[in-house]
Amino acid sequence: MPGDGSYGRREMLGAAGVAVCGVALAGCGTDDAKARPNIKGKVIAKVADVPVGGGKLVEDLNVVVTQPTQGVYKAFSATCTHKGCKVGTPKDNVIRCPCHGSEFAADSGKPTKGPATAPLASFQVKAEGDGIVVV
Ligand code: FES
Repeated sequence: MPGDGSYGRREMLGAAGVAVCGVALAGCGTDDAKARPNIKGKVIAKVADVPVGGGKLVEDLNVVVTQPTQGVYKAFSATCTHKGCKVGTPKDNVIRCPCHGSEFAADSGKPTKGPATAPLASFQVKAEGDGIVVV
């Protein structure tokens, strides 16, 4: 029912589903595989290409990498959770989808403006030398 907190439950269920697939990729469907490609251990961007407050859209891996604050790197699926468009290059700590205007926080992937209601799938990353690696 709208207004009774069901939105929060849906969001939590979605996040739980993503987490389960992150552990057992073999059980994931096609859409989820697109949203969370298996890139563990891979260098996905150069530190120098990810400015503070901005980020880089890695087209071939379908991932956006951000640096919301100095030295803190985050990575998310570039697949918008609304209808699946590819989001744009992060700017001003916002990841925007060009299709219908959804916006996601560059530090969490959570939607800050609809129509998307679910967060972008996220990846744990760390800076290693001059690269950003998925851990
Ligand atoms: S597909 Fe991204 S806002 Fe609709």
